[in-house]
Amino acid sequence: MTSITVGLGARAYEVEIGENLVEAAGRKIAPLLKRARVAVVSDTNVWGLHGARLSAALAGSGIEAHPIVLPPGEQTKSFEGLATLSDRLLELGLDRGDLIVAFGGGVIGDLAGFAAAIYKRGIDFVQIPTTLLAQVDSSVGGKTAIDTARGKNLIGAFHQPRLVLADLDLLDTLADREMRAGYAEVIKYGLLGDFAFFEWLEANGAAVLGREPKALSHAVTRSVQMKAEIVAEDETEQGRRALLNLGHTFAHALEAETGYGEDLLHGEAVGAGMALALRFSAARNLCSSQDAHRAETVIAAAGLATTLVQIPGHPFAVERLIAHMAQDKKAEDGRLTFILARKLGGAFVAKDVDAAAVRSFLVAEGARS
Ligand code: GLY
Repeated sequence: MTSITVGLGARAYEVEIGENLVEAAGRKIAPLLKRARVAVVSDTNVWGLHGARLSAALAGSGIEAHPIVLPPGEQTKSFEGLATLSDRLLELGLDRGDLIVAFGGGVIGDLAGFAAAIYKRGIDFVQIPTTLLAQVDSSVGGKTAIDTARGKNLIGAFHQPRLVLADLDLLDTLADREMRAGYAEVIKYGLLGDFAFFEWLEANGAAVLGREPKALSHAVTRSVQMKAEIVAEDETEQGRRALLNLGHTFAHALEAETGYGEDLLHGEAVGAGMALALRFSAARNLCSSQDAHRAETVIAAAGLATTLVQIPGHPFAVERLIAHMAQDKKAEDGRLTFILARKLGGAFVAKDVDAAAVRSFLVAEGARS
């Protein structure tokens, strides 16, 4: 088991990465509780597969667990999902001193975390992420949110968990497609700031995707180390944390166009978005086209799309993509913000990207003008 500290002073917490952490959950959560009861927020898929294990682990430490099991899928991360969850928490009579356990992927973690941020003006929560994407990205760093019809994650709060338990065993039952989608976020860390890790992924990507224990553990640990370090330095994304959005401006536009559903998973959108960001960087002579090609090769080797043409819904109308990008919460005064790259492992925040340059680039990539 590896433990990584997210160094946020009085709000610092550990991200524990290893095997059998669900079995240890009661023992690890008990010291955080004022009374021995928690609400466990999950979805029907995760709860069906792993709920009994978590309930038994909590009961083993004398913790009364009240499951709140929601439908799976992005539509749960909505005002309606939040209303349902809040009502259930109120029905249970959870108090300020109580705690919520988020047991699921990014949707459950973001929704339960946001509910924890606002329930009775804020209660504690623990993340037990069950997907690779949630383990390496969304469960760490305290970003919580719901989506609206106008875009993803537009209503939310920074609310840090008290503990994250990333149990690698949970990934054994993860669908290959979800594994590949989460792996896009792993590649992101190499691309944004660690060339040696990028090279390691070039050599070991297949082993990670094949869930070979040592490779998987290294990939999750290195990703979380990088995220913890960035979050500790810039919790509320005033500067460097924005690097974690590499590929996300393109990705969010594509997700908005494909309806945040099964056609294009968030991680798949990020994979394509990163390839686009690197090619856009090369088109602007910021990085070499060899670097863009090398990034694309690693993304494609994971079975992820790297071009607009491969994405269901192609050809996308360029004006609609630009409109989604302008709606993105990273856009300031109508200027588009992108994370671009000077080299592999060398990303930077570009705040005032000219929409006309993005438009021509997207048309050259196959978007409809
Ligand atoms: N997923 C991006 C961040 O946590 O900042």
